[in-house]
Amino acid sequence: MKKLYFGSNLKMYKTIRETTEYLTSLARLTEDISREETELFIIPSYTALERACASVDQNLIRLGAQNMCWEEQGQFTGEISPLMLQETGVRLVMIGHSERRHVFGETDEEENKKVSCALQHGFTALLCIGETAEDKKYAVGPEVLRMQLKKGLSGIDADGTDRLWVAYEPVWSIGVNGTPATADYAERMHGEIKRCLLELFPETGAQIPVLYGGSVNPGNAEELIVQPSIDGLFVGRAAWQADKFNELIRSAQKAAGR
Ligand code: PGA
Repeated sequence: MKKLYFGSNLKMYKTIRETTEYLTSLARLTEDISREETELFIIPSYTALERACASVDQNLIRLGAQNMCWEEQGQFTGEISPLMLQETGVRLVMIGHSERRHVFGETDEEENKKVSCALQHGFTALLCIGETAEDKKYAVGPEVLRMQLKKGLSGIDADGTDRLWVAYEPVWSIGVNGTPATADYAERMHGEIKRCLLELFPETGAQIPVLYGGSVNPGNAEELIVQPSIDGLFVGRAAWQADKFNELIRSAQKAAGR
């Protein structure tokens, strides 16, 4: 039985106090869920990371950072280095979220340096990829995803892939103005991603979890999670209340036969 992944990026929404309250409550609500079968993770804002790590057992809820610089130190005002993230205790680093790429102009080359640096520093790297509405219109989604994977994972050693996760988040599906991808469409794109990962890493590519994100909600979580190529759900708005996220996780798990 494949392991299922459920996680949330808290974006720029929760203060330190709100983050620790949320985590404490999510940990309590999900206490009985088998962590052998299900991996839960939350990605708070930088300022909350240290307190977040002190407030929750990462064997229950893995904690991650929303971004990271690819250098250990230097003239990079406003950036956070892998050494600083290690100090906070987080085990996961998200790289290339759609808002980093499209609001802050990050490139595949930069995402590649970050993935490589994150793996070298012992983190699990969660690389986010996704095509824009225009890419979809011209039916070049698969090509765009392949390019993001090939560039983003360039030079990555197959040994590091046991700490690599991928999130497929179509840009047009994310946030308040997003439309969720249909389960069929998401499954097709996940299939492309999995094929590309196998080409890049013939020995280990099949083990890399690929999560779907973009307007996941209680109405579509079940049909998404049962797709054969979808290993987990990466949830935004629908996860930011611990009780609602707990319900979504449980209904998805049930649909997946857990
Ligand atoms: P959303 O966010 O679920 O609110 O669309 C998803 C994301 O940005 O990861």
